[in-house]
Amino acid sequence: MNTIEMQYRTPENLNTRIAIHEKYSVNPQPFGDWILSNYTLGPEDRILELGCGTADMWKGRLSLLGDSARLTLTDFSSGMLLSAKENTAGDPRVEYRVVDIQNIPFEDASFDAVIANMMLYHVPDLDKGLSEVRRVLKPGGRFYCATYGEQGIMAFVNETLREYGISGRVGGSFTLQNGGEALGRHFETVEKRTREDGLAITHVPDFVSYVLSMSSLSGLEKADAALLTKAFAEKCVDGILYVPKEYGMFICR
Ligand SMILES: C[S@@+](CC[C@H](N)C(=O)[O-])C[C@H]1O[C@@H](n2cnc3c(N)ncnc32)[C@H](O)[C@@H]1O
Repeated sequence: MNTIEMQYRTPENLNTRIAIHEKYSVNPQPFGDWILSNYTLGPEDRILELGCGTADMWKGRLSLLGDSARLTLTDFSSGMLLSAKENTAGDPRVEYRVVDIQNIPFEDASFDAVIANMMLYHVPDLDKGLSEVRRVLKPGGRFYCATYGEQGIMAFVNETLREYGISGRVGGSFTLQNGGEALGRHFETVEKRTREDGLAITHVPDFVSYVLSMSSLSGLEKADAALLTKAFAEKCVDGILYVPKEYGMFICR
């Protein structure tokens, strides 16, 4: 298993991070509500989600789907898909399948909307993945993909740890800054929408767990819990650790 497959073998790491966003986000609108408020979904749409993870976005929100709509939730990790099933259980409009975005096992022009949130930066051959998305979209279909920006949580973490001689990776292969260029190679129109938010953390160990949950992805293996706790505690103002967030999405046609 490679690093990304190990990271997402089970939902544990992702759930740790989702919980911190839910508990400490400054913007009162839940991220899933914001994401879905940007989608245009028709009552009979065929919708494909790639890298759906735990399907957290759909939890309690399946009423937004039309009665005759069909949602195909997919992920390359069967462990993630199991959790997605639990979170959307029993809805006859939803089906599940293990799929790698680089090789989508569906016919050309079979979906009205395709979704790939917070996952394109993990794809080894991004152009292959995006050409597969384009292939399975019907003419006039929409592709929605959320991602992070380069001035968000990881920039803050890296800046904090630099004082301790530790540097991880900032940025990536698909961010709010560079994603539009990649999408422009495959879609006629690409629109970017961003969201204002941040974390106000009152219990530093929670943020330490967040950083540790993805240390193998961000190149921060050298930073252990004790060092992270000390570094972040020093950044607190009146007992609160303020962490910037930068998230948004692209809408492509
Ligand atoms: C950060 S999680 C995001 C999950 C979900 N989309 C969300 O926004 O909560 C990334 C997900 O992408 C999946 N993934 C990574 N590479 C993939 C690939 N090549 N094809 C399909 N899924 C992939 C992982 O298994 C994981 O569930």
